[in-house]
Amino acid sequence: MCGIVGYIGNNTEQTIIDKLKKLEYRGYDSAGIAVMNKTGYRVFKSKGEIKNLEKVVEVSKDSKIGIGHTRWATHGKPTEENAHPHVSEDNRWALVHNGIIENYLELKDKLMASGMNFYSQTDSETIAKLLQYYDGKDKLTTIEKTLNNLKGSYALAILNEDINGIFFAKNKSPLFVALNNGKALLASDIICFNGFATEYYVIEDGEYGFTDGKKLIVKNRLGIVGKSPCAFDCSVENVENVYDHFMIKEIFDTEKALKSNLEYYSVEDNLKKLSALNIKNYDKVVFIGCGTAYNACLVGAKFFREQLDIDCFTDVASEFRYSHPKLDDKTLVILVSQSGETADTLAALELAKENKSTTIGVVNVEYSTIAKNVDITLPIKAGVEVAVASTKAYSCQIITMYIASLVLKATLNKTKADLKEVSAFCDNFSFGKLEKYQEIADTLRYQNKIFMIGRGLDCCTAYEASLKIKETCYINSDTYFAGELKHGFLALIDEMTYVVVFATQKEVVAKTLSNAEEAYSRGAKIILFTSLDDMDKAFMDKCSFIVKVKDVNCGLQAITNIVPWQFIAYYTSVSKGINPDRPRNLAKSVTVE
Ligand code: G6P
Repeated sequence: MCGIVGYIGNNTEQTIIDKLKKLEYRGYDSAGIAVMNKTGYRVFKSKGEIKNLEKVVEVSKDSKIGIGHTRWATHGKPTEENAHPHVSEDNRWALVHNGIIENYLELKDKLMASGMNFYSQTDSETIAKLLQYYDGKDKLTTIEKTLNNLKGSYALAILNEDINGIFFAKNKSPLFVALNNGKALLASDIICFNGFATEYYVIEDGEYGFTDGKKLIVKNRLGIVGKSPCAFDCSVENVENVYDHFMIKEIFDTEKALKSNLEYYSVEDNLKKLSALNIKNYDKVVFIGCGTAYNACLVGAKFFREQLDIDCFTDVASEFRYSHPKLDDKTLVILVSQSGETADTLAALELAKENKSTTIGVVNVEYSTIAKNVDITLPIKAGVEVAVASTKAYSCQIITMYIASLVLKATLNKTKADLKEVSAFCDNFSFGKLEKYQEIADTLRYQNKIFMIGRGLDCCTAYEASLKIKETCYINSDTYFAGELKHGFLALIDEMTYVVVFATQKEVVAKTLSNAEEAYSRGAKIILFTSLDDMDKAFMDKCSFIVKVKDVNCGLQAITNIVPWQFIAYYTSVSKGINPDRPRNLAKSVTVE
């Protein structure tokens, strides 16, 4: 959440704005920049997206150094006042912050007692005031003293009026630095380095420092840290978009992404670490994620249970740590995350490592913190995903866990995994009938609430379909296990209610349809979603809409089932005039707990 940029070089204002646009997936509640020239720094801020900031920024020829921020509000409403950069009272310091300072109220009290005044409701302003409080001749010492007071997470880029350069610090929020011929760029994501540098430095937790574009000083509490650069892989920036929105582009990317995934896992070498793992050494597998990634965990757990006959548990990352999980070296913990930076998932990883569990990261961003810190990384190969609502990444998380379960099973039998079924699935992949999805969207756009029901794998799809409808269409979509209807849910049904019935699992279809009948008899309108041919004709006649998808006959049905709902969510969102790429109040990368 929140993206920060620091830049030393020409065309300062526009460069920072361009880089902030790349970080907008991290939040778009407000934006701001501070740019230094001969007379000190100037601050520009605006509410909402970067395009609003662009209108208020005045470009100065003297500018050479600046910092910028795009915000996802945590402390304080998304107002201009609360927008970053935040400044010290003497206006000598300006900073941008990504993270949360947990003890800010305590610090604020202390600073107010010393006579300082605050203008915002943010935790971040406290840091600017602390810099003034500890200001001294050696600015790195000032930074160090300030950081010693902070509890929580931060990536910081800091300007001081007297210094030609940018100070920075990091703890639990991502920060990267690249230098190029006297110019410097600091950013929350390496995608900003495209076209700027071919190498970059990863700033680690507890590190802080300074750059003036020529030199880079990095310190931690033990002293100076020697840093080696990482090569920048330009392919991470492949986000050309010829569609109206990234969401629809990314849904259409699914086919290619699934094929890239299969291609990657068809290479023996890429399976080495996974195949070395003997599932018999574990007594359980725990799947952890947030949002869409959590919904993918529900599916992954089913695959592992079926293929490997082992106890599997799922938990949302924010609950996991506080649920007293029993973890030890016989636990395999699978962390699923598109970004690889979600704070709660990272905290779960930390706990798993403390307890000596083996960790697997199912991630899209291969340079992410989760990817770097797990024992085994399983990249999902979805390609860059920009839209806040995850689509192709969900499908790729599922195929990855499916392949992983096959590989672990094959290892047990001392054979090689047979990926023919996966290959056939990818070859025959189809998006289905888009006109049908549009038709359903034309109806759903007028609904305030809908319900989705299913059993087994179908219920997992229902959870993810509901999430898509909620986040991109602002419709209250609720999911129930079909068998649970009679235990409360039926009280919610009336003539205005649409119930989406997922019925693709042969062994439970009869029971699911009986549950759907219970809703229908009480006035609900039914949208039937099925892959099966021999459905009861009388029941089908009662349905307002029927979506028929391919019968895949394996766990990958979960992918076939979700794609139509990604389309339906997209079409509904657009018809309601919502920007599906940037739903209100959300962000793609959630780096606060
Ligand atoms: C946010 C995004 C979701 C995503 C979730 C987990 O809420 O809006 O689309 O599923 O974070 O993110 P991760 O990067 O860990 O998959």
